[in-house]
Amino acid sequence: MQIKVVHGDISTRDVGAIVVNLFEDVKRLDGATGAVDDALDGAISSLIGEGEIKGKQGEITLIHTFGKISSPRVVVLGLGAPKKFDSNVARNTSGTVARYIQKLGVKKMATITHGTNTGGLETSESVMAVVEGTLLGKYRFNDYKSTKSNDKLEVLEITEIDKSKIQEIKEASIEAKLLVEATTLCRDMVNTPANDMTPTTLSERALDIAATSDLDSNIMDREHMQELGMGALLGVAQGSKEDPKLIELHYKGDPENEANNLAIVGKGITFDSGGISLKPAANMGAMKGDMAGGAAVISAMKAIAALKPKINVSGFVAAAENMPGGSAQRPGDVVKTMTGKTIEIDNTDAEGRLVLADTVAYAHSKGFSRIVDVATLTGAIITTLGYTCTGVFGNSQLLTDAIIECGRQTGEKMWHLPTFEEYKDLYKSDIADIKNTGGRPAGSITGALIIGEFVGDAEWAHLDIAGTSMAKSTTGHAPKGATGVPVRTLVKLTQVLAE
Ligand code: BES
Ligand code: ZN
Ligand code: MN
Repeated sequence: MQIKVVHGDISTRDVGAIVVNLFEDVKRLDGATGAVDDALDGAISSLIGEGEIKGKQGEITLIHTFGKISSPRVVVLGLGAPKKFDSNVARNTSGTVARYIQKLGVKKMATITHGTNTGGLETSESVMAVVEGTLLGKYRFNDYKSTKSNDKLEVLEITEIDKSKIQEIKEASIEAKLLVEATTLCRDMVNTPANDMTPTTLSERALDIAATSDLDSNIMDREHMQELGMGALLGVAQGSKEDPKLIELHYKGDPENEANNLAIVGKGITFDSGGISLKPAANMGAMKGDMAGGAAVISAMKAIAALKPKINVSGFVAAAENMPGGSAQRPGDVVKTMTGKTIEIDNTDAEGRLVLADTVAYAHSKGFSRIVDVATLTGAIITTLGYTCTGVFGNSQLLTDAIIECGRQTGEKMWHLPTFEEYKDLYKSDIADIKNTGGRPAGSITGALIIGEFVGDAEWAHLDIAGTSMAKSTTGHAPKGATGVPVRTLVKLTQVLAE
């Protein structure tokens, strides 16, 4: 989608639909909504008077203009109560209205920046929310439809009457567009079925991105993993005919200062059947999305390379397929990780922590002193936090706080859960150093802590996105399917750490 920033009065624009807004309980219209109302001889205020337009959050009213102004349609978007308004409301309602306009078959839309007066948003904050909301909201995954759906909405105009704001709007819209492209890339990878998204194809996508960005890359193969002693990663992969890959993408934003670094590590299980501890049949297909953490890491690296924060960032993705083949690992097996620590396999379906154990250890061995891993790790996090919020764990309050604050700004909700020492007793093994599960109690916490066993002295945080990486139904800026969480937060984190 093309984004244009236009100086002028929105009521004079000639596009398929113009979007103005209304807060709840507003009786006197001013600003852009007032100007459009005047141009329409009071059509909006009379609909408010009749009680048809209330300004409820996400309310959409279509008014046909029949030649009174250049644009044939005006859409009045409800922003809800000013007290409840924030950039998340702007992002979500922008997504809802974009889908609505797209369905009308409109090619060009114009909008104002929502909520900069009554709503109290900074101009750039509002622009980011409007651009992200619009573009992410109209997203569709069409790759496998032989008849492509009607997707004519191609141009978004942001109209601003105050000339002094134009430059800021242009800059914010460019950054927002980069973040949307990265999020879309992530969604596409996660939505792609596992027959086309193997560890090898995932690594090829990463190489394509590196080739067109300011990123160095390396794909580690099975032989090299064997040399490094990555027995946990290899153990997960051994039941599949697909070769595992450890994908590396490197961005050097502060080459003189090696210690200024961050590793982002993603779980890239391209299909999780559970292995010999086979999952039940119902909804097993959703496990094509078990590489969402890896896809988020690869996609964030693309945006980071474009936005160029002053920090060295590397992405590491453990890509493998968890299958119950004749050579699959068994419950009861013991594997040796690259750190030398041994793990007894209690359940082959707890594979994410196994591949991540070797991958965070590898990142630490490469000198990374800050490690953030992202994984669709546990069903238990859905029991705890539902589909609303990502679980955050870690050994550094500073880092977990920073991530949660970044999530607050991007609208990707996160919540910190505890990692008390006592929980470690749950995954003691009789014969190895640890087991790969801690049983039912505190399932997300033991999963996190097992990864944390392999980060050495690094500051570490873990994001469990099992509940947030896939939307069950369409809302706001997230159509049903892959959400692209937490791409925007990872990018934001690198910008915050670079300051
Ligand atoms: N990939 C799953 C977790 C998952 C569940 C992701 C639902 C998305 C939606 C993970 O590999 C897994 O199977 N975890 C097990 C761990 C258990 C065996 C300790 C789980 O959550 O049941
Ligand atoms: Zn899994
Ligand atoms: Mn599993």
